Amino acid sequence: MEAFLIDGPCTLDGAITTSGAKNAALPALAASLLTDEAVTLERLPAVRDVVTMSRVLEHLGARVETDREAGSATIRSDALSVEHEAPYELVKTMRASVLVLGPLVARLGHARVSLPGGCAIGARPIDQHLAGLEAMGASVILEQGYVNVRVGSVLRGCSFRFSMPTVTGTENLLMAACLARGTTVLRNCAREPEIEDLASLLTAMGARISGAGTETITIDGVDSLTSARHRVLGDRIEAGTYLLAGAITRGRISVKGVRARHLQPLLEKLDDCGAVIEEEGETVTLSCPKTLRARDVVTAPHPGFPTDLQAQYLALMTTVDGTATVVENVFENRFQHVPELSRMGADIEVHGNAARVTGSSRLSGATVMATDLRASASLVLAGIAAHGKTRVDRIYHLDRGYHAMESKLQRLGATVVRI
Ligand code: EPU
Repeated sequence: MEAFLIDGPCTLDGAITTSGAKNAALPALAASLLTDEAVTLERLPAVRDVVTMSRVLEHLGARVETDREAGSATIRSDALSVEHEAPYELVKTMRASVLVLGPLVARLGHARVSLPGGCAIGARPIDQHLAGLEAMGASVILEQGYVNVRVGSVLRGCSFRFSMPTVTGTENLLMAACLARGTTVLRNCAREPEIEDLASLLTAMGARISGAGTETITIDGVDSLTSARHRVLGDRIEAGTYLLAGAITRGRISVKGVRARHLQPLLEKLDDCGAVIEEEGETVTLSCPKTLRARDVVTAPHPGFPTDLQAQYLALMTTVDGTATVVENVFENRFQHVPELSRMGADIEVHGNAARVTGSSRLSGATVMATDLRASASLVLAGIAAHGKTRVDRIYHLDRGYHAMESKLQRLGATVVRI
């Protein structure tokens, strides 16, 4: 099993370019199932979740031609078959496989997808995805660990209100509604930028959508969708992770290829902590003084502070004098990095969904491992700030969502090797 060996501390200095967003690439790949024509996606990140989603599509009968040099893929879904299913072996490794549910039901009238089950960051049910499909006239049967969704003739446009904003739930119903008969109005939708990016791909394919990125999305169904070429949005979470890496080492770092407005809650927080943030076009630069202020954070759906940056922010707070409270409001059980950070000398107490961090200037290297993607990123950040050698085990979690993290960090001046 691969691991990172880190020799710290270091002060990061330099620039990196953001990859395409994993969480925009996955729904874009699923959306290609909505048409029998070719869909080309550019700036696809070379991360393992994208490979897994490509395998799910192939399993369903699509052909995925990847051009690694160009960082693009063309998907042709002209030979999908109702016989095929999204199997447990793939879905269990990546929950986002459920994104094929909406497109398959809309296109074929039937989908069979393994239930994702529990995952490292909480129970994460898909009841909202299923309730929305039922509101569009589908029947849902759960059997033998699989969800079977079927429609008599075609999906019908409907009015549906989510009980809570769900990102993949909104994406699933948005995709299904594109081929439904009539108008669908989705309320209390998630507003993450990745949803706007999906809507822009779907619009390029001929869908009629308004309001993506707001709480209410309206979709007028069309009979069919066509080919399109789409450049995936830059990854705001990857960008945020590197800005936090810059901050934890009190360095200076520029991140290119990301829209600052998508990072607003993080940038405002870092500014409040005392970092200097400059924005120019699609480049964000952070310069960090030696001393930062401890500041509380509460995660919330977009435009709140993203849960996907909570672990990395918490790692930063362990290095800042003072106390900060980090409240996780999106997922239960998303503090698995805490015991590992404690092994590096961090002082953190968790009560329910709140972690109280008392920071100091000295973390020390240790052997650590985490069980999810962002928690692993927080341990790498702690490792580059810590004194001595840190070994981060099970970095396959990192490879799910960060392309070549060690090379990017090396370019910024960190001593990180993959063994
Ligand atoms: N929820 C339900 N029922 C549902 C759907 C969601 O109760 O039917 C709950 C969840 O359990 C959770 C909350 O609603 O408590 C929000 O979950 P959401 O559905 O928004 O999460 P997701 O769509 O499964 C996406 C990202 C996650 C990111 C969350 C929140 C993708 C592929 N995944 O997950 O990304 O944390 O939104 O922003 O877009 C990551 O990249 O590391 C990652 C976990």
